[in-house]
Amino acid sequence: MTDRPHVTAVMVSSLDGAVHADGGSQGLSTDADRVLFRSLRRAAEVVLVGAGTVRAENYRGIRPRRPSADDPQPGPPPPVAVVTGSAGLDPASRLFTDTVAAPLVLTTAAAPAARRDAIAAAGGEVVVLGDLSPATVLGALAARGYRQVLCEGGPTLLGDLVAADAVDELRLTLVPLLVGGPAARIAAGPDAVVPPHRMRLAGHEAAVDGTLLLRYLRDRPAGSVTTAVTPPNE
Ligand SMILES: NC(=O)c1ccc[n+]([C@@H]2O[C@H](COP(=O)([O-])OP(=O)(O)OC[C@H]3O[C@@H](n4cnc5c(N)ncnc54)[C@H](OP(=O)(O)O)[C@@H]3O)[C@@H](O)[C@H]2O)c1
Repeated sequence: MTDRPHVTAVMVSSLDGAVHADGGSQGLSTDADRVLFRSLRRAAEVVLVGAGTVRAENYRGIRPRRPSADDPQPGPPPPVAVVTGSAGLDPASRLFTDTVAAPLVLTTAAAPAARRDAIAAAGGEVVVLGDLSPATVLGALAARGYRQVLCEGGPTLLGDLVAADAVDELRLTLVPLLVGGPAARIAAGPDAVVPPHRMRLAGHEAAVDGTLLLRYLRDRPAGSVTTAVTPPNE
């Protein structure tokens, strides 16, 4: 995969590796995590998310940025780009009804035409791709001019990106909770990556409530063919 956008993934996890509590990740979030999440969204050009997360968390569009001293005339908020093989998104959901930017719905011709039509009628931009591999999805975003992608999960989508070695940066928030049970890890997929991809710790911060904010960058071997545009703040 060459010349694709830079991909930052942001995930929150309990200490025992759960990515949700009570069905959604909101049950894990802390004040420090919410502050980080908002700041990453402020810097994002497009927010990439899997349909499972949209359905589980009743996703809505990204809120407009508020003017500040640093940014008196903020640009429009980034769109949400949803990866879905089924196009099984509710046209009456907040993704379409509570948004400034039209959501991008990345799917294939195998998704039922009636669902694709209903999404388009609800204001979504339906993008029909040949497949939903990371290379194709990121290529479609690059073709729209996006060079910085913020991936908000969930585990299936992140697992695909990990398998394709398309995660350049991981913002992992560890919250001081033990959840137990069958909850998924932050990345899921049929096959583990062999050998595992090495990440380099690039920043860490501990909040007063015990939340740990970790920033890791992909440590690619020299000569790797995978390229991404230069990330910000490097
Ligand atoms: N802790 C965190 O930071 C965090 C972040 C995000 C989500 N979550 C949690 O994770 C859970 C959802 O997990 P999930 O794994 O279902 O989430 P997901 O990755 O957001 O969604 C999976 C769905 O996305 C679509 N998809 C993703 N990649 C695809 C591909 N390559 N080809 C075709 N379709 C693809 C499919 O949708 P269709 O079924 O429509 O085809 C698939 O069923 C929820 O409980 C959510 O709260 C936690």
